[in-house]
Amino acid sequence: MTTQTAGTRAPGAPRLGNARALSCRECGKTSALGPHYACDECFGPLEVSYDFPRLTRADIEAGPHSIWRYAPLLPVPRDIASRPTTEPGYTRLVRADGLAAELGMRRLWIKDDSGNPTHSFKDRVVAVALAAATEMGFKVLACPSTGNLANAVAAAAARAGIRSVVMVPANLEKQKILTTAVYGGTFVTVDGTYDDVNRLASELAGEHEDWAFVNVNVRPYYAEGSKTLGFEIAEQLGWRLPDQIVVPIASGAQLVKIDKGFSELAELGLVEDKPWRVFGAQATGCSPVAEAFSKGWDVVRPVKPSTIAKSLAIGNPADGPYVLDVVRRTGGAVADVSDPEIVDSIRLLARTQGVFGETAGGVTVGVLRKLLESGQLDPDAETVIINSGDGLKTLDAVAPAVSVPAAIKPTVAAFQAAGFDGTDF
Ligand SMILES: Cc1ncc(COP(=O)(O)O)c(C=O)c1O
Ligand SMILES: [Zn+2]
Repeated sequence: MTTQTAGTRAPGAPRLGNARALSCRECGKTSALGPHYACDECFGPLEVSYDFPRLTRADIEAGPHSIWRYAPLLPVPRDIASRPTTEPGYTRLVRADGLAAELGMRRLWIKDDSGNPTHSFKDRVVAVALAAATEMGFKVLACPSTGNLANAVAAAAARAGIRSVVMVPANLEKQKILTTAVYGGTFVTVDGTYDDVNRLASELAGEHEDWAFVNVNVRPYYAEGSKTLGFEIAEQLGWRLPDQIVVPIASGAQLVKIDKGFSELAELGLVEDKPWRVFGAQATGCSPVAEAFSKGWDVVRPVKPSTIAKSLAIGNPADGPYVLDVVRRTGGAVADVSDPEIVDSIRLLARTQGVFGETAGGVTVGVLRKLLESGQLDPDAETVIINSGDGLKTLDAVAPAVSVPAAIKPTVAAFQAAGFDGTDF
């Protein structure tokens, strides 16, 4: 592998906008852009480094209504907006006064990423991975997934007209199975946990060097897609950073990259540099990062997941140690909530805001509530929470808790007899 310093583009290197090199998150060694994910010196994970141009708010505001308005800050070709992609992003930031009132908070916002093309934030990371992979000559888009990534990869490959190979644990929610299969790529259900599927994918990535496993061999590019959540939040707040943000954790990449997105905006002078605190949310049945945080460990001890929050059921999270770094550096925390608390929180969000989040959203709202009660989150500070996926994909989680009354005859008498015209609302 040739090495280079940021600022030059190696001859024959992929044309990925302002991205200049890959650099090791552990030892800092840089290497040329390419389909690499581990440092050849210390095996540490690689991340993309850039030579950013001068960029103004107006430049960004004149861009497309998708993540491609931030293309100069991503490892993608300059003409990305005119290529066939699912054009994710630009989702709504909802002022959550109803939920804030219930929780005794002053200024709360929900970044509602269920509004993406396949209804989760995964469309962001996949669109960036696809752009980089295509530029590097890959013809197949693949992934191991806890469900939402499967939807996003299958849809993005269909849009781009390339093959997909998607692998998931067989016990996923039926909604996530069907909403992947419908796109018609190669779909593999595996008898095992996500961590088993991930291991299989890593072995297959070694056998099929022409397959771009978005979260394995092109992971440095994929992960950068989550910066756009941070960029959008800041832009939608009127080019301002929030004081606190609560983010769900599976691998931990989303949390780490939202923080990186905030840092880059501050470095580029696009927002005022001020402190922000990052909080992480896990389900108790899969809470290796919360455990490491509470015990003061630097490493994350893998667990075997058992929770209704299947999208977050990664027992051995790749970015776990980096989550701990971000959370400790910014003065945040990581906490977890039980399955009944997740269901309760999904219903709380729906009842107070008219937003139906998936189980990951329930985890995030549940942790928001828990950290307010414990005094770790400041109720007076401006806070953003991420709703990263759509409740329609995890219906079984709430079905037992939601009662639907029996059908009545279409008469006023039957309506009254059933007690529906009471005055208790
Ligand atoms: C809905 C949802 N939210 C959050 C996450 C966590 O993302 P990350 O693996 O980047 O921590 C996932 C991961 O699959 C997800 O599907
Ligand atoms: Zn290294």
